[in-house]
Amino acid sequence: MMTSTASLFDPRAFIDEQVKLIQETVKGHAVIATSGGVDSTAAAAIVGKALGKNLTAVYVDTGFMRKGETESVRDLLSALGIDVRILKAGDEFFAALKGVTEPEAKRKIIGEKFIRIFERVAKDVHAEYLVQGTIAPDWIESGGGARDVIKSHHNVGGLPSDMKMKLVEPLRDLYKDEVRKVARALGLKVSERQPFPGPGLAIRVLGELTPERVEIVRGCCAIVEEEIEKAHKEGKIGVLPWQYFAALLPVRSVGVQGDIRAYGETVVVRAVASIDAMTATHFHVPHDVLSTISRRITNTYKDKINRVVYDVTDKPPGTVEWE
Ligand code: XMP
Repeated sequence: MMTSTASLFDPRAFIDEQVKLIQETVKGHAVIATSGGVDSTAAAAIVGKALGKNLTAVYVDTGFMRKGETESVRDLLSALGIDVRILKAGDEFFAALKGVTEPEAKRKIIGEKFIRIFERVAKDVHAEYLVQGTIAPDWIESGGGARDVIKSHHNVGGLPSDMKMKLVEPLRDLYKDEVRKVARALGLKVSERQPFPGPGLAIRVLGELTPERVEIVRGCCAIVEEEIEKAHKEGKIGVLPWQYFAALLPVRSVGVQGDIRAYGETVVVRAVASIDAMTATHFHVPHDVLSTISRRITNTYKDKINRVVYDVTDKPPGTVEWE
């Protein structure tokens, strides 16, 4: 059943309903895929309320996480009183993705590996249920109903057909603004955090995924976040964009570094305004903020990046992410 329109949505009633439903239907131990984002944290908090000690939160460090993510997730989930397991699996993911550049192939490999790692933990804790923070746009864009597949989202398309656990998706019918209301009602400090895709930085590195290229995009995303949030605090940007990040393009161009010819890769900066990510418009970031971002990126990655561009495409025809 789809939820009512956002203005009629009552987050407290929704939480109570979900807690009751989960208590009635989930009989046994559950594991939750948690990434520190709003969706998975809200899902963890709701299921934690319903199941208490019968929930284990698993954080898989895929190697594609944002800067500082692992530490902040550990703190956040522990503060919720949830049993958390942090699994460092970066090497495994990089090995599985060696030489893979096709976006859908990347998503499928990451999704499958992710689930397999969960299955290992799930076996340990004798879990029969897998909780996910899937929200409506995730499955609509992944071909829910009669629609075409636009992108197979990580927490939908990557599910292997022989997966043994039963799925629990308490936020499945909600749009992002409703999830934020739920997160606020739950008192979660991540409620206003910008969305981050399940496959993480892997879909912000176009071309081959190497630890070095992922590290560049991680640093560039952090620079974009810092500068846009600073501009917001200084009043140069009113409402923060829906999403703001960087992606690394496998496009090399000629530049100069001192007196020497350079031939580096390209970073694209993207910021969009949106209500539910189904459509989006490119955001008007002030030029001086873009200049600072560009200078910081090219100074930080002198030998690697010699060009920074800004994406002025709306969705449609583009998507928010580049893959
Ligand atoms: P696109 O790029 O499809 O993104 O316009 C719409 C929103 O979804 C996020 N996104 C994902 N989230 N798994 C996720 O959980 C994914 O595979 C995925 N791909 C994109 C994206 O960041 C944006 O907020």
